[in-house]
Amino acid sequence: MQSLLSDNMTIIALLGALVILILTAFVVSTYFSKIKHSKADGILTEEDWDGIKEFKNDLPIGWAASFLCVIIWGLWYIFIGYPLNAYSQIGEYNKEVINHNNNFKAKWASLSEDELNTMGDNIFQVQCSQCHGIDKSGINGKAADLTKWGRSEHIVEVILKGSKGMGYLAEMLPVEVSQDDAKNIANYVMAEISLAKVPSNADSIAKGKDLFAIHCVACHGSDGKGLEGVENYAPDLTTYGTYEFLTEVLKRGKNGSIGKMPSFTYANFDEYQDKALNNFILSND
Ligand code: HEC
Ligand code: HEC
Repeated sequence: MQSLLSDNMTIIALLGALVILILTAFVVSTYFSKIKHSKADGILTEEDWDGIKEFKNDLPIGWAASFLCVIIWGLWYIFIGYPLNAYSQIGEYNKEVINHNNNFKAKWASLSEDELNTMGDNIFQVQCSQCHGIDKSGINGKAADLTKWGRSEHIVEVILKGSKGMGYLAEMLPVEVSQDDAKNIANYVMAEISLAKVPSNADSIAKGKDLFAIHCVACHGSDGKGLEGVENYAPDLTTYGTYEFLTEVLKRGKNGSIGKMPSFTYANFDEYQDKALNNFILSND
């Protein structure tokens, strides 16, 4: 009852119904008392049904009024109240959430690193820790170890072990290079391909650049953005290490060699929440 009465549309509909009910009860009782107390008179119609005749009366005003009210109430209910206007408490709740989030956006746009981390931590513990663990380490291999992800360590792992399951057209098989070469390639990707621009040893970057041209451009393109003219062939590595790569992972989900991570599109994270999550994952907290 509490929840029913907290809904304005229901209250208006119930009040309308109550008014019509009272009006109808009044009209009916008036006609009943008329039948009891006043004698019928007026002009009779021509028809005669075995001695029973009918008066030529106008439409009773009270009855017409309550009938009209029911029609108006019904039309109001269908077109403005619930059914066609699709009003619902869930709709109202969603609207409130959107308004609430919009109010926060201005604030979210100017969060400090610390605030971003705290926000990311909060979202992570609720949405991600059951698989990735509260310390991000992946609960003994149950899910990806995120203490390495988004950094050159993870790229080394991907080069040596391959990667699949995010729904790209290609599948990345293990690339046959030494651990050291994998490290050089990873350093080059983080320093020059990725917009994260993580600096490292110049010599290593130069070696990595040559190796990238040999082993990686076939799928990721010379600029790392993917194959020219082929959508969705392999991920865009220029976003690797930035929140945009995480946004992509969360959108796609991943059914890889470790296990299955669902897509998070249902959670409707916005840009700021993705940024906060990415910051938290890449932080050392
Ligand atoms: C045969 C094509 C192919 C080649 C060659 C290739 N990749 Fe990939 N790469 C892919 C595809 C496809 C994916 C996405 C895999 C998935 O669905 O998880 C990917 C994913 C990645 C990722 C992201 C992995 C993750 O877990 O998020 C990185 C980083 C990467 N590749 C780097 C490289 C580097 C560096 C090289 C060269 C040493 C390379 N790739 C060679 C096709 C390729
Ligand atoms: C139901 C368990 C589950 C939940 C919940 C989950 N993940 Fe995952 N996640 C996985 C698994 C399993 C993998 C490894 C997939 C593979 O490579 O086989 C993974 C992989 C990842 C990766 C690495 C993707 C890549 O590039 O290879 C990232 C980043 C990630 N998860 C972030 C998150 C974030 C952020 C959340 C919370 C919003 C989250 N995950 C929630 C199970 C989960």
